[in-house]
Formats: sequence, structure tokens, C-alpha cells
Amino acid sequence: MKKKVYIAMSADFIHNGHMNIIDEGAKYGDVIIGLLTDEAIAMYKRAPLLNYESRKRIFESFKNVKEVVKQDTLDYTNNLRKIKPDYVIHGDDWQKGIQSVIREKVIEVLKEWDGKLIEVPYTVGSNCTDLEEQYRSLTNTPDNRRSKLKKLLNLKPYVTVMEASNGLSGLIVENAKEENLEEGKVKEFDAMWVSSLCDSTFKGKPDIELVDLTSRINTINEIMEVTTKPIILDGDTGGKTEHFVYNVKTLERLGVSAIIIEDKTGLKKNSLFGTEVKQILEDPDVFAEKIREGKSALATRDFMIFARLESLIAGKPISDALLRADKYIDAGADGIMIHSKEKDGEDIKKFLKQFRKKYKEVPVIVVPTTYNQFTEEELHSWGANIIIYANHLLRSAYPAMLNTAKQILKDGRSKEASEKYCTPVKEILSIIPGEK
Ligand code: SPV
Ligand code: MG
Repeated sequence: MKKKVYIAMSADFIHNGHMNIIDEGAKYGDVIIGLLTDEAIAMYKRAPLLNYESRKRIFESFKNVKEVVKQDTLDYTNNLRKIKPDYVIHGDDWQKGIQSVIREKVIEVLKEWDGKLIEVPYTVGSNCTDLEEQYRSLTNTPDNRRSKLKKLLNLKPYVTVMEASNGLSGLIVENAKEENLEEGKVKEFDAMWVSSLCDSTFKGKPDIELVDLTSRINTINEIMEVTTKPIILDGDTGGKTEHFVYNVKTLERLGVSAIIIEDKTGLKKNSLFGTEVKQILEDPDVFAEKIREGKSALATRDFMIFARLESLIAGKPISDALLRADKYIDAGADGIMIHSKEKDGEDIKKFLKQFRKKYKEVPVIVVPTTYNQFTEEELHSWGANIIIYANHLLRSAYPAMLNTAKQILKDGRSKEASEKYCTPVKEILSIIPGEK
């Protein structure tokens, strides 16, 4: 009987590195490709450009591939134990970093039936990440970018979203990674939140819909120019319905993925003031009509309109928020956001419990700024599936800048402040595309 050779791949971009490994594998026996599912890829990178079925068909047509099977985690263990291959083949580029954990596990599991790991020299410049960076500007079209949020919602149990308020913070959200070597996992934020609070505050203006859409679009363009992750815009109240129907089309055309509008009226004040300030809720039927008209103005199915429920912010009961949720969903809202400034999270938890009894699939956004003791997993277990960190880059930048300014005033020179608080210029420039 011919020997079995197992090769795991995600292969969003197919390149000669893949071919080399497959051809090498075929020298040892029948090649079985363990093709990572879209869900598995989305858990450690981004949603793949080509879906599983397309990638599968491509690999099945290769003469040196005997079979393509699903691998639904980065970890090979389940497939290896099922298939018991004689060999696993991989490029030798996985001996360091996060992949090394997976490699160790493969070696351990193969020992169970005396299987061997064969490592072939890595083809320089042909790994998917290099290629993705190279082709990012080609694939980062408005259509492609807009559709990414919906794709991610279908692939992941929940998505995490971080505030981005300018090109630099956009780049931080785009590139920040947390590698957990022990668990063999990599985490990134899935999307960006263009917050009204942060966009206004960085401009030194109050969060009262004073920074108009033209200015907000400038911010969005600045971010879009240097990043690729999907964008959710904080659309405040959405303004007049007659204006909203134009504005959603503009945002859709730009490649924004979603807008969230809140059911308040009159002079909008930031929700974190709660009832300390006047918060006037809009008539739910009037607000539902704004959503209905906004949805019917759109040209694509990808752009989403989320209805943000401000009942709890305005001191109204959970029942008010539930009633409004019904009306907004009925009007065509793609999902809801439930907001609260209470610290214990109880109101959000209760709302979600009731809401999920009726709506199993409707996406729900939470913004755990005040109830920040709960983990993403906990919030997801309550029923949330989009978690927005709404203002944390602004809030961490502010004390950092203030400390530096004060330190320089204190010392009458910048030596101490530079040593204590400042990053070398080169380090910042390393994340700017095209800067050397
Ligand atoms: C924002 O970030 O502007 C928001 C969320 O709308 S909150 O500030 O909590 O109201
Ligand atoms: Mg806001």
C-alpha cells in the first residue's frame, strides 16, 4: 500500500511554495491536503478571500493531490489521529513563533504510530502573509472591504472591534497581534469603530453631532487609505431621515461595512453621561421609519444598519428597549446595539436573555466601557456577537501625552520625558506603510 502524506494548508493565495511542498510530498506517497476551513482561518487571521469550496476545487485539480479533507482547527491532532499519515510535510519556516507550538504537537502525535515530520526549505517570499501584504492594495477595494464584516460574522462566534480615529490608530488596530504561545493562538481585532466621541475629542470638540459627516468621512478616508479591516461607523442619531438616505449610500460606496444609529433626538449628548444630562429618546416609530428608508436606499446586501437602543441610557426599563428592538428589526435593521453605563452589567445581561429568546440569529453589539470586568467569552455567552472597545486608544493616548508635556515643563528639557515616555521615532515609523 502506498504511504500517506498529510499536508495542512490555508492557501488563500496559491503560490509556488505550496506547489513545492506538494511535489515534495508526492515523492513519499499519496498526498492528502488538510485544508483549513474558512472558520479556522478567520480565527487566526482574517476571513479568506477565496472560500473553502473554491480552494478545495483548486487543490483537487492538482495531479499530485490524492484527496482534500477539512481541517477545522490550526491544531492538526484530530485529523492526524483519524488519518494516521506516515508523513507530515511542512515548510521549515514554522520552527519559531506561534507555529512552533503546533509543530511540537504534530511531532508528539505522529510518534503514536511512528509517523515522521519532513520539513522542506521555505521558499523565500512566497508565504501567504508576504503575498497578502503585497496584494493588499489590489484586494482592498470598497466592495471587498464592505463585505468583510458580514463574512466575519458568519465565520466567527463573535467579532471584536477597536476604536480607530485617525491613520495611526487605524494602523495600530490593523496590525496589533497578541500571540499566545502556550495555546498556539494568535489574536487580532476584527474590525474598526469610528467613534463619534473619539473623532470629536481628538478634534477638541464636544460629542454633540457638531463634527459633521464631511469631517467624519475625512477621518474614514484617512483610516481607509492605510488599512484593510472592516469599518463600523458610529452614526450618532443618523440625522434627518431625508439626509440619512443619502449618507448611507455615500458610506456604502466608500466601503464602510456598517453604521450604527441611536434612537435619540434633539441635541445628542454622549451616552456615558447617562441621565446626568438630558437624553431624549426618539419616537420608536419615527426611528423605525428612518431605518426602513435607509435600508431601502442601499445598493448592496453587504452594508448593514444597526439600531442602537438608548433606553437604558435614558433611564427607561429593559421592556422599553425590547419593544423598540422589535420595531427596529421589523423595519429591517441588520442588528441591534444595546447600550448601558451601569457598571454591574446586570441590565445588559437581562436584556440579552430576553432578546435571545426571540431572536437567535440577529447580531447584537455591546460596548462594555463601564462593565469592563466581563471577558469577551462571557459577553458572548450572554448573547452578544460584536464587542466594541469604543474609546480605549483615545483614553490611553491622553494620559501618555499629558505626562510627557508635564515632564518637559518640570525639567525644562526633553531628556527625561523622552527616556521615560517616548518611543524612538524609528519604532513608530516602522508601522507606516512606505516609510523607511
Ligand atoms: C462613541 O464611542 O462615540 C459611542 C459609544 O457612541 S459611547 O461613548 O459609549 O456612547
Ligand atoms: Mg458616539
